[in-house]
Amino acid sequence: MSVLDLIKGGIAEAGPISFDQFMEAALYGPGGFFSGDVLRSVKGGDFLTSPEVSSLFGATLGEFVRRERDRIGEPFRLVDVGAGSGSLVTSLLDAVDVEAWAVEVSPPARGALRDVLSPDRVVGDVADAVGRGVVVVNELLDNLPMAIAVRRGGGWSEHLVALSGKGLEIVEAPAREPVAEWADRFSGPVGEGGLVEVQLRAADWVRRTLDLLEAGALVAIDYGATAEELESRRVTGTLRTYRAHHLGPDPLEAPGETDITADVNFTALLAVAAEAGASVELHRQDDFLTDLGLREVMSELRQRELALARSGDELARLQVRSQLTGAETLLNPRGLGDFRVLVARR
Ligand SMILES: C[S@@+](CC[C@H](N)C(=O)[O-])C[C@H]1O[C@@H](n2cnc3c(N)ncnc32)[C@H](O)[C@@H]1O
Repeated sequence: MSVLDLIKGGIAEAGPISFDQFMEAALYGPGGFFSGDVLRSVKGGDFLTSPEVSSLFGATLGEFVRRERDRIGEPFRLVDVGAGSGSLVTSLLDAVDVEAWAVEVSPPARGALRDVLSPDRVVGDVADAVGRGVVVVNELLDNLPMAIAVRRGGGWSEHLVALSGKGLEIVEAPAREPVAEWADRFSGPVGEGGLVEVQLRAADWVRRTLDLLEAGALVAIDYGATAEELESRRVTGTLRTYRAHHLGPDPLEAPGETDITADVNFTALLAVAAEAGASVELHRQDDFLTDLGLREVMSELRQRELALARSGDELARLQVRSQLTGAETLLNPRGLGDFRVLVARR
């Protein structure tokens, strides 16, 4: 049975579902986008993340891990959550010698990770891995199920997913209390009918992970911005789908076949992390990687490229050029460089 049919069956039985319930079923339910048998976060997949673009991403984050280890000492472990294909943890391990764990909910991703790490260090829940050390989470929080609040007359309603003929449609209902509370607190000014993705699950995830972190840092990297910066995106909202590296169809059209995602509200996550007692910082990815030394590495690569051009070793020169192109992509201020990095230390 298709994911669409499963969702329709559930709604026929119990009535319309909230958008976060729909997203849970579409991404993580039986046959869902991440629970099916396809490994998603690879070059030929549906989206291209920083660690898939360049191993210099992990190599540079390795310096952050080293600094944290110097700060808190042993015991120390690195935990990559939503580790996907394992490209990030692989390049981190090339850069720094630490005990590494991966947390993944996707069966094919867990399979790929067991080729990279010892199988008992590939687990399904943060509670089985997080202790003292660094927890890295790249492009996971944008994928956690979220509700969609709609501004109505100074209050909030929310999107429900209901049956419509052969397919699904959005209907509005009064917002649940936690949804309205989150929207009041973190949406900023929103005009009548404006849409806000309410990221309660991302907040719960940060709170729970920080509760498990005895000492060290959580590093959460994703697209998104502060509540203030997101204000201009509150008319139609930021929810979107991806398929084969391109923006995909309406999320209701092909659940299970497309990624569903939205910009992460980092103001909300900073507040949760601070309330959990962590000391928090927010950076842009380009600044964060610059501080960790990526631009120095690029200067060395440029010198090497020049030397290879002079020596006439074209193949080696092209390999260095490709590394440089990857690094430039990581720092592109209108692309990956504009991603945000939440650092929460304890
Ligand atoms: C967009 S992919 C990013 C993969 C990888 N971090 C990267 O940057 O290439 C998101 C990954 O998070 C995983 N995921 C989603 N929710 C999760 C959760 N609650 N715990 C662990 N992994 C999760 C998905 O299965 C998927 O592999």
